[in-house]
Parts: sequence; structure tokens; C-alpha cells
Amino acid sequence: MPPRSATITVMIQAAYKAARGLVRDFGEVENLQVSKKGPADFVTAADIQAEKVLRRELNRARPGYAMLLEEGGAVAGETPEYRWIVDPLDGTLNFMHGLPHFCISIGLEHDGEIIAGVIYDPLRDELFHAEKGAGAYLNDRRMRVSSRSILMESVIATGMPWTGRDHHATYLAQVALVMEQTAGIRRMGSAALDLAYVAAGRYEGFWELALKPWDIAAGLVILREAGGYITAFDGRDINLDQGDVLAGNDHIHGELKSLLAQAKAR
Ligand code: 2AM
Ligand code: CA
Repeated sequence: MPPRSATITVMIQAAYKAARGLVRDFGEVENLQVSKKGPADFVTAADIQAEKVLRRELNRARPGYAMLLEEGGAVAGETPEYRWIVDPLDGTLNFMHGLPHFCISIGLEHDGEIIAGVIYDPLRDELFHAEKGAGAYLNDRRMRVSSRSILMESVIATGMPWTGRDHHATYLAQVALVMEQTAGIRRMGSAALDLAYVAAGRYEGFWELALKPWDIAAGLVILREAGGYITAFDGRDINLDQGDVLAGNDHIHGELKSLLAQAKAR
């Protein structure tokens, strides 16, 4: 593999450092399941601590870059054309329930374009990373989206709206069509890892409504560098703030786009 750039190295080192605390805390969470109060406060603290480490490490290496953090919100910087977009713990509900599927996600934006991304799953020690123009990698191996082109043979990932959220009816119409026409749907609970898995060729596609910029930023560049497509539901340019995401390999992205259009028409 080609040597890693200074920037991606900074991102990877920050992710590794923050991951150590998350792994330790995940071990504790299991003990807390049986307590009356449950692990919610503990998990919030773990999440905030991971974000603190990421913020410190990224800021130390690149002082002045702006930040958008899931917990801390927007942070201004003297070089605001660069912005870190960070989710310290994607898959929080999994983490809280002792389900071993979560990650850290770090994207780097320059003049409104995502130019580098790192998604790290510390329990599997899987590091997905990419820089614009330099290819996508899973650990040290080059990654490509899958070449499956037949919808009926495809596995599609998704995220479902949960309690208190809008869009339940819209989502049910979509899922009704997708389940009729694909080999299977998976709902694992971390949008960032879903995008990384499409990039790695594990899923042929993914869709979810109303995601946040920190769920999408890193996955966007990783997926594109792996040869995949990521857009709004209607195929237009993705809008990080609007958050409807349709992703897939070149064949299945188009197939899913038609299915979502049919669901809208129903
Ligand atoms: P989070 O773990 O960082 O909150 C999956 O549907 C996506 O939605 C995840 O990336 C998750 O990000 C986000 N999400 C936020 N709140 C959620 C909830 N209560 N249940 C499921 N997913 C949630
Ligand atoms: Ca998230």
C-alpha cells in the first residue's frame, strides 16, 4: 500500500487513542445492564470522553481547523476552510445494550468537500479509511465495492426510524418494496459502519432517512474512493444537513433509486 499521508495518519492515531477508552467502557457496560438505573449515564460519559480525546488530538495536530462534533456541536477555528466532522460513538444504542457493533467516525472537509475519512471499529480492529484520489483501504488492504448487479442477490443495509421520529410511514413504504426484491435487509444500528461495509463490498447498498453530517461525512469519501455512489434518494448531490442517504455499488445504487421513487409514488 502507498505510504499514508500526514493528515490521514493524524486521523487514524486520534481514532486509535479514543477507541481505547471506548473498548474499556464497553466491557463495563455489560455489568451495568442488570442495575435498575441502566447504563445510560455511563454511556453518555464514555461518549463525551471519547469526543474529548478526539478533539484534543485533532486540535493538537491541526490547530485552527473548525469542528462539528456530535456532542459538542460546532466549534469555530482560524482556518475554517478546513473542518473536522466527528462522531465519537456511532451505534450508541448498540453500545448501551452490550451489542458489539459501533465505531468512531472522523471526516475532514475542505471548502465544503469531504477529502478524507476514517471509520474505526475497535472490537474487530477494522480501520476503514480513504483520502480523495488515493483509494479506500480496510486496514492495509485496498477496498472495492461489490460487483453484484442483480437486486435479488443483493444484501441491503438500512436504518429504521425509532420512537419519536418522523417518517415512519414513508419508511414502511420503502422497506416493503426493498424486501420484496432483494436477498435480504440488514439493520445493524451504525450508519457509519453501514457505509463502510458498502465500500468493503459486504453490502450492495444502503439507505436511511434523516441522518446527521457526522454519520455520513467519513463514509462518503470512503465509499466513493471504493468505487461506490452516494447521493440523495432521487440521485441528486448529497446534502449532509438534510441527511437522506442512498448508497450502493454502481448497479445497485440505480436499482435502489428506482425502488425509492416507486415507494414515493405509492
Ligand atoms: P448514534 O449512535 O451516533 O446516535 C442508525 O439508525 C443511526 O441513527 C446511527 O448511526 C445512530 O447514531 C443514529 N441514532 C440516533 N439515535 C438513535 C436511536 N435512538 N436509535 C437508533 N439509532 C439512532
Ligand atoms: Ca451517529
